[in-house]
Amino acid sequence: LEIFLSDYTPPAYLVDTVDLTFKLDPTATRVLSKIAFRPNPDAVDKTFYLHGEQLKLISATIDGKDAQAKVTDLGLTAQAPDAPFIWEAEVEISPSTNTALEGLYMSKGMYCTQCEAEGFRKITYYPDRPDVMGVFTVTIEGSEKVKLSNGNDLGDGKWHDPWPKPAYLFALVAGDLVNLHDTFTTKSGRHVDLNIYVRDGDLHKTAFGMDALKRSMTWDEEVYGREYDLDLFNIVAVDDFNMGAMENKGLNIFNSSAVLASPDTSTDGNFARIETIIAHEYFHNWTGNRITCRDWFQLCLKEGLTVFRDQQFSGDTRGHAVERINDVLQLRARQFREDNGPLAHPVRPESFVEINNFYTATVYEKGAEVIGMLKTLIGDDAYYKGCELYFTRHDGQACTIEDWLKCFEDTTGRDLTQFKLWYQQAGTPRVKVGESYKDGTYTLTFTQSTPATPGQDTKDPRVIPIAVGLLNDAGEEIQATRICEVTDEIHKFRFTGLDAKPVPSINRGFSAPIILERDQSNEERAFLLAHDTDPFNKWESGRALGRDVLVRMVTEDATPDQAYLDALEAVARDDTLAPDFKALCFSGPSNDDIQQALVDAGVTPDPTKIFLASQTFNLSISQSLQDLLPRIYAEMQIDGPYRPVAEDMGKRDWGNAALAMLSRLDGGAQAAKQFATADNMTQQLSALGCLLRAEVGEEQNQAFYDQWKNDRLVMDKWFSMQVMFAKLDAAPKMAKALTEHPDFDMTNPNRFRAVFGALAGNTAGFHSPDGSGYALLADWLIKLDAKNPQTAARMSTAYETWKRYDADRQGMMRDALERIKAAPKLSGDLSEMVTRILNA
Ligand code: ARG
Ligand code: ZN
Repeated sequence: LEIFLSDYTPPAYLVDTVDLTFKLDPTATRVLSKIAFRPNPDAVDKTFYLHGEQLKLISATIDGKDAQAKVTDLGLTAQAPDAPFIWEAEVEISPSTNTALEGLYMSKGMYCTQCEAEGFRKITYYPDRPDVMGVFTVTIEGSEKVKLSNGNDLGDGKWHDPWPKPAYLFALVAGDLVNLHDTFTTKSGRHVDLNIYVRDGDLHKTAFGMDALKRSMTWDEEVYGREYDLDLFNIVAVDDFNMGAMENKGLNIFNSSAVLASPDTSTDGNFARIETIIAHEYFHNWTGNRITCRDWFQLCLKEGLTVFRDQQFSGDTRGHAVERINDVLQLRARQFREDNGPLAHPVRPESFVEINNFYTATVYEKGAEVIGMLKTLIGDDAYYKGCELYFTRHDGQACTIEDWLKCFEDTTGRDLTQFKLWYQQAGTPRVKVGESYKDGTYTLTFTQSTPATPGQDTKDPRVIPIAVGLLNDAGEEIQATRICEVTDEIHKFRFTGLDAKPVPSINRGFSAPIILERDQSNEERAFLLAHDTDPFNKWESGRALGRDVLVRMVTEDATPDQAYLDALEAVARDDTLAPDFKALCFSGPSNDDIQQALVDAGVTPDPTKIFLASQTFNLSISQSLQDLLPRIYAEMQIDGPYRPVAEDMGKRDWGNAALAMLSRLDGGAQAAKQFATADNMTQQLSALGCLLRAEVGEEQNQAFYDQWKNDRLVMDKWFSMQVMFAKLDAAPKMAKALTEHPDFDMTNPNRFRAVFGALAGNTAGFHSPDGSGYALLADWLIKLDAKNPQTAARMSTAYETWKRYDADRQGMMRDALERIKAAPKLSGDLSEMVTRILNA
């Protein structure tokens, strides 16, 4: 059933208080609810309706009398008074057989919940929509050592959360858990107890998460003036979890991969990701919980803003240049791909079948870009002033994008109607750049257009903040960054008083999430790579150079040109550049980057050809730098214990980039040494990657397995590495073999993603010309869908690019999609996804 933003109506009844009692039992948990309802004066439709799915109704009363409820598969209706009343119900549910991991379920013997977006209706009958907020009191009965819910601990498994909240923020955890305890004092003196709860054996992996939590709490006080509002903040790590983590009020639940960290078992990348996710969930306390969404179409109101906030935090913590480059890499790899394919949708969608399918890169990452552009357009002071108004005006409310934007209109006096198009129009804008120079005046002409997307044939011009700086031919900056506010379809900007035609640096810091179309010479790119003061565009210029080289290698069988190799060598030798920045300059364009460039040039991408060209490309770079590599590698080695700090991470990044290049020349000799002596996972895993890529890592691969077979999170890496580094059609074969490994467990989303996420990410492997990658994934998505529709649906995005390819590949991908679509008892989740992908 498709639902529409335009059909929103206020709820018929509002909730004051909710009392829940859980009598825990793996197959027959009883949930008793006592809910105080009152009629909503603003309601249009007065029907008393409660959502409820997969519940066994034992009894239901209204003010003590049988409610005579009419029950369907999706909920119930009853005759309710036009006055406040008490609803009481008892239902039975079976957490141990709940493999969808939504509602109340079990993970390795512990009870836990995931309610966002619409999982609470699998726990009890309730108006399960975010604009209905109540004060929850919860009693948990069971023999478990630890029993947790939201808010304050009243003892004996009783919990009270004083903050009214929508049902999607409800949480319950029960199990024989252990915890790391710490405390935090807020700036106004509130004493907060902090805990991270884990299963026995994981306690040594909690220290970093705790530290990240405390730093997040301080940061939100300092930057946004936001303090924590309860005496207790609990985090729980769960092995089986569909997403990264969930911001339930006072009881955040995390995928164990998103919170547990130790130097031995976690890479630098893991540490950075954990820090970001801890911050993200904590920041939701204000942007999401205190102020929530009126309906699920407004999801970006909390997610885009909270991602923007976690990116700011990570930038402050680890350095803004590298943070920005990494964020844009992510955006382009996931969001641009989505926005330019069959699944394109506005940051605020206008309709959906299954809301779980809209926790997307567009809502999250493009949603964050929109906040960034707002800040750029109105300036920092106005931005924080507007936020302050938002927090005071809307505290305790369920809001819309209109409410959010109004705060900035009111504080700045600016009309944001055109800006709002960023929330309403799907598709990545293309901006053509024209330039002219005459008599000391340099003119930039921007022409914007956005291709049609599903359901949106035409687009209006948006307001686009394009940051521009100018350099002279000596490489000096003669015009500091200025924001060109593009509002018309064709918009000109003049720079006067110049001595000669300047070199422009356009869209600095990636100030707008657009695709720039500009005929830029490779000389100019090399010049900007060497001289631009904006770190993002400096990196971007190198990236564009590399992309151009690779595209010509694919289309014209060219060889890497010396100019590019020289430019890279200059980066490698430049002592003023930070190691992590150098590593990014050497990361090279991704397979998907090249594909998008080819599509834009009207060439059908052939993943096999691109892979082979990339091999040659990387080998040439390694050869051209071969004299330098041993020195770089040696200089980047760190004495002393592992520290997850930006400085050391940068050195390991650059050192391991050098190792990867060396390994293409020495057959893996240096990598084997590093593998044998590594005392942390970052060093061990990157060495293993080099060996697997060189196809000489069999022994080390086995040793890695033997060493780590009892660590679930490390085993996920082991599964995924083998698929990631398998060449061409060896990748689907490897994935298939791994599904037969005794440690493969399709019901654990991390393990499933380790194998099939790696397969989808191995472009040349997934797109093997024999179609084996497509077929294998289809088989497993059908199998998984019967147990866990949410994760199956999410992974079906592997096919979203199918229209890019040649007729053979298109045909095989269509067959795979049709086969999924025709599977018996297909879930609504997966069916919506394959239908949208096919209808492109
Ligand atoms: N709100 C969570 C977060 O962004 C994600 C929840 C995802 N839930 C879902 N059903 N897709 O941190
Ligand atoms: Zn979030």
